[in-house]
Amino acid sequence: MTSSRNLSKNITLQKASREHIPQILAISDEQLGDKYLSFASLEDAVNQTDRAAAKVGISPGGELAGFYLSYVYSGEELEAKLEIPLSKVSGQLKNLQRIGVLKTVAVKENCQGLGVGSELVRDGVNELKKRRVQAICSVAWKSGEKTNIGGVLSKFNLKPVLKIPEYWKNHRPDQAFICPACGQPCLCPAVVYALVL
Ligand SMILES: CC(C)(COP(=O)(O)OP(=O)(O)OC[C@H]1O[C@@H](n2cnc3c(N)ncnc32)[C@H](O)[C@@H]1OP(=O)(O)O)[C@@H](O)C(=O)NCCC(=O)NCCS
Repeated sequence: MTSSRNLSKNITLQKASREHIPQILAISDEQLGDKYLSFASLEDAVNQTDRAAAKVGISPGGELAGFYLSYVYSGEELEAKLEIPLSKVSGQLKNLQRIGVLKTVAVKENCQGLGVGSELVRDGVNELKKRRVQAICSVAWKSGEKTNIGGVLSKFNLKPVLKIPEYWKNHRPDQAFICPACGQPCLCPAVVYALVL
């Protein structure tokens, strides 16, 4: 794996397929928590349906450096599936029919801070715009004082619109995953970022 600051320029983004799932799960387990994603939860996205997509970033050495999952939901679906109380968000998000959701973005530890996450978010935003979404939304994990992907989302004009305390404790009551920051149950808050187009 190159440690070049230019990794983001040399990264190749491609649609994820079933063969990538084990490596996606390995990054997810390491970065988002053991069992945060499951094989089954990735199937829609790697099948690249109208409403679900996944891309991976491959390094020049052929290593999977990171990935993102994106979905298109109506405001009502967003509320129901991700348990985001849109009534607490000012503006018209709740009434929109097509909201692009960058649901999960993660980069392998040794590839972080080199612009890979930014390239994944840039691509995710552009791909969602091609799907004619009316807004883009992302649920960012706040671990300690840092909202991990907050700076990257801000570069693409997404703004924090809502903080949800103990988001994953309530959203994932199965508590099947182990948070890398606080263990089990995960008590981390989430910050919802949004950009209305
Ligand atoms: C959040 C995450 C996806 C970011 O990926 P990344 O590849 O490190 O992202 P980038 O390298 O593009 O940006 C990270 C930081 O490095 C900076 N950076 C990027 N390229 C740089 C470069 N060439 N030189 C110096 N700094 C650089 C960015 O400005 C950014 O700074 P900020 O956090 O203060 O805004 C990654 O840290 C991760 O997987 N975290 C765990 C999972 C997670 O929290 N995912 C988001 C919730 S779903």
